[in-house]
Amino acid sequence: MLIKTYSRRIKMFSKKFPEGIISAKQFDREDVEYILSKGREMISIKNSDLLKGKILATLFFEPSTRTRLSFESSMYRLGGNVIGFHSGDVSSIKKGESIADTIRTVENYSDCIVIRHPLEGAARMAAKFAKIPVINAGSGSGEHPTQALLDLLTITEEVGALDGLNIGIMGDLKYGRTVHSLAILLSNFNVNTYFISPVELKMRNRDKDSLRQRQMNYKEITNFRKILNTLDVLYMTRIQKERFIDLEEYEKVKDFYIFRENDLNDTKDNFRLLHPLPRITEISPDVDKSNKSIYFKQTSFGIPMRKAILAELMQD
Ligand code: CP
Repeated sequence: MLIKTYSRRIKMFSKKFPEGIISAKQFDREDVEYILSKGREMISIKNSDLLKGKILATLFFEPSTRTRLSFESSMYRLGGNVIGFHSGDVSSIKKGESIADTIRTVENYSDCIVIRHPLEGAARMAAKFAKIPVINAGSGSGEHPTQALLDLLTITEEVGALDGLNIGIMGDLKYGRTVHSLAILLSNFNVNTYFISPVELKMRNRDKDSLRQRQMNYKEITNFRKILNTLDVLYMTRIQKERFIDLEEYEKVKDFYIFRENDLNDTKDNFRLLHPLPRITEISPDVDKSNKSIYFKQTSFGIPMRKAILAELMQD
């Protein structure tokens, strides 16, 4: 019954975003609320045949645990199939083939392409050449829009409505692609946002310019302990070692923030700690046992959110 209810609902994204999902900038508030509602519906639909006969291609040129496996699991849970690779070394790109030619080939074998690539413009370029929808699963230091959607699904399910929340986004705001997409999505809501980072890893000017144009209300700070007791959500990220040109610079900032168990004492009762993972040293393992730490639960929302996205883009 739930599946029938789901199937009958109008698909908005296949018409509005025929190229797929490349950037969080595609989404206005209505789009975010719509896809979150579809994600919420998917929480109660474990398996279905919504995408029976469809094929998803996952092209991962960078490592991934959560994004690739949750897209693949979502596709199987919707009755579809998956092809792909999870290293640039095993595709013909290694022999010198261009991304454009790879996409022109893979689109003949699949109904939707999920791509992760170290270059910021790779997903956009793939969408330009593809006749089927492309989903950006992480493009260099640029964006990771489906992670940000699952982050918002987590917050709305575990904390409550977004409007009025105080949200801290902390860590590597320069190179972290998840935080770029998250900030853009949050700019659609009346959220008080704190960007918390070492000076060297502040949000890039071009990202801040774009957020200001979207009338986002944010403050930049370095010491999270000054505002911790006001926060509803703290979204932590790791320092992105692989993006540093000079590893000495990474060594200087890698342990700049470590959230420890006693930091929880300064938080509100309904405070929640999120992290897109992987976590390195920035959250001490003794924080994991607190019911305020929801970063592993957050990973579980990757399934309903990505099921909803795949259904939107591929369902007949
Ligand atoms: N959050 C995230 O993108 O994780 P993976 O790198 O494991 O996919």
